[in-house]
This record gives sequence, C-alpha cells and structure tokens, in this order.
Amino acid sequence: MTRSPQYPELDTPCAVINLDTVDRNVNAYQAYCDKHGIALRPHIKTHKIPAFAKQQLAAGAKGITCQKIGEAEVMADAGLDDILLTYNVLGTRKLARLRALFDRVKTLRVVADNTAVVEGLSRAFADSDKPLEILVECDTGGGRCGVQTPKAAVALAQKIESLPGVSFAGLMTYPSAGGGPKVGGFFGDVMALLDGLGIACPIRSSGGTPDMWKAHEVAHVTEHRIGTYIYNDRSLMARDVCGEDDCALRVVAEVVSLPAPGRAVIDAGSKVLTSDLLGLEGFGYVVGHPEVDVVGLSEEHGVLHFEPDLTPFEIGERIEIIPNHVCVVSNMLDQVHLVRGDTIKTVDVAARGKVL
Ligand SMILES: Cc1ncc(COP(=O)(O)O)c(C=O)c1O
Repeated sequence: MTRSPQYPELDTPCAVINLDTVDRNVNAYQAYCDKHGIALRPHIKTHKIPAFAKQQLAAGAKGITCQKIGEAEVMADAGLDDILLTYNVLGTRKLARLRALFDRVKTLRVVADNTAVVEGLSRAFADSDKPLEILVECDTGGGRCGVQTPKAAVALAQKIESLPGVSFAGLMTYPSAGGGPKVGGFFGDVMALLDGLGIACPIRSSGGTPDMWKAHEVAHVTEHRIGTYIYNDRSLMARDVCGEDDCALRVVAEVVSLPAPGRAVIDAGSKVLTSDLLGLEGFGYVVGHPEVDVVGLSEEHGVLHFEPDLTPFEIGERIEIIPNHVCVVSNMLDQVHLVRGDTIKTVDVAARGKVL
C-alpha cells in the first residue's frame, strides 16, 4: 500500500521528497556520465543535505560543487572532502575561512576571474605546503562572472602561475542553456594558446541541468557540474528535460480559503514557493490539476485560479505543487520530509541559508 499523497501526519506548508525518484535521477545521470567518460561533480545547492551529497558520491560522482564557503563548511563537517567552490572569494575573513577549510579536506579548488581575487588567494595561501588550485572562470555566454575572451583566460592563468601559494588547474564555465558549442569553442581556443606556452590545463568544467543529456557533445569538457537534476522542477518540465514523475520534491500545501468562484487560497506563499518565475507563467504546477493556475503569491498565501464553474478543492484539502525552481525552495525550509513507501523521515536542510 502506498501512502496517501496528502500526508496527514505532516503540518503544512512543507516539502516532501520521494527517495525512489531521487535514486532514479542520481543513478541515471551517473550512468550517462560513466558511459561518456565525464567526471560528475554535483552542485549541492539544490539539496543542501550532506546525506544526498554522499549518495551522489557513492553512485560515482568525483566530488561536489559548492557556491559559498558556508555550504562547503557544512559539507566538510559531514565528511565530504573533494570540493570545488565556484565563486570569487574576496576579503580577509572569507580567505581565512577558505584556508582553514583547505587545511582540513583532501581536495579544495576554487575559481577566479580577475587578478584581485587571484592576488588575495595567493596572499592567503603563500605559506601553504601545497598550492591552492584555481580554475579560471570563463564567460561563454552565460553573462555572469567569467573572463570575456580566451586571451584574458590565458593572461589570468599566467598570473596564477607567477604567484606563490596558488597554481592554475584549468577552466570553469556556467553556460546558458544551449551554450554547449560556445563552451567548446572558448575552451578549445584557450587550450591552444596555453599549449603554445607549455601550460597544462587538465580540468575543463562545465555544468547545468538544462543541457545535461548533451554534455558529451561539448568539446574539451572533462567534468560536468549539475544540481537541479536530483529533484527536478517545473522549469525543467517546461524544457522537456524531465517529466512530472521525475520531480522528486513537491510542496504540500493546504487549501485555507475558497473566497470566490474560481479562486482558492493555499497556505504556501512566496516564503515557501519563492517568487522565481524562470520565464514561466504562474508559480508552480498543481499536481493532478492542469486546470488550475497558481496566479499570485504574497508571503504566506498562494492564490489559485480556475474556471468559476469548477470546484476542484474543498477547505482543508491538501495539494502537491511542483515548484518552478526547486533549489530556492529548499533554501526556504529548515527541514524536508523524505518519503519511501510508507515511511517518512524528517531531515534538516543543513546548508540552507549559508550565503556567507
Ligand atoms: C557555477 C554553477 N555550476 C553548476 C550549477 C548547476 O546548475 P543546474 O542546477 O542547472 O544543474 C550552477 C547553478 O546555479 C552554478 O551556478
């Protein structure tokens, strides 16, 4: 017998995570990476839970990716010891924490896209027994951080190689969806220039769930960083990257008001579902109710619309919502509920809110 989808033992709003779906998502992508000889380095920003990071490693991932030092500290405390920090680290306090983290894990690498960051890293690691390895972040079309040209990437690699305490280990990019060809072109140009200078470039790291099944088509890439795939969400359903059954995390909310024909109000607002639209209309997909739109959120209320002659819900009824962007939803919750068959286990989202 499977559990009722309404989870009467849980209070709402909350998030439930189907562990069978997590297993399927983790194992399927690991099998793909293994088949194509790509090192998988999952980004923990989606789940923020050490047990899931360990599951990803047990399945065959090479290490993990973290965005912030605070996330990496939580993972290191739990025994995760191969971490790539994909963020420019600046300032004495953060550099001191980075150094302390480096001294207690097996492998910690960082990225950088400018000389100020590289010089700060060098100062913080100048007296280290082994150098801190740095990947040069390249903007291959994502329009966020990253050096803008292959020549600039080479210049930064040379700068890194000239400084004490740090060494150049390769390239990193976070492309926009569909950006694979640009990544291959950019990385190829940098590698050719580095080759001419006799500088090795062993790691070429790209990432993203939207193009996860095309990672093997991207030239020169040795490693893929991917986060959302473990849970999936409505934005990926909209891109046909996954189906509804692949979405492991659902927000469970209760209908608290039916104030007018064609309108219901639930107890999950922007503090749970978040306001991220990711280009979509509405703030989530109500499972089993394609006729219903989540049209508005205030902090603690979600407003659903449907045709006025329909009565899809009763007061007190619970619904499941697949959020637009699942990574930000798991950052809103102290705990999530892991479901397998008839059992529910509640766990802390240990790295939530770790933005420092
Ligand atoms: C640097 C970096 N790498 C990898 C990822 C993983 O992306 P996705 O969640 O699309 O798999 C992200 C997502 O924000 C990122 O910022």
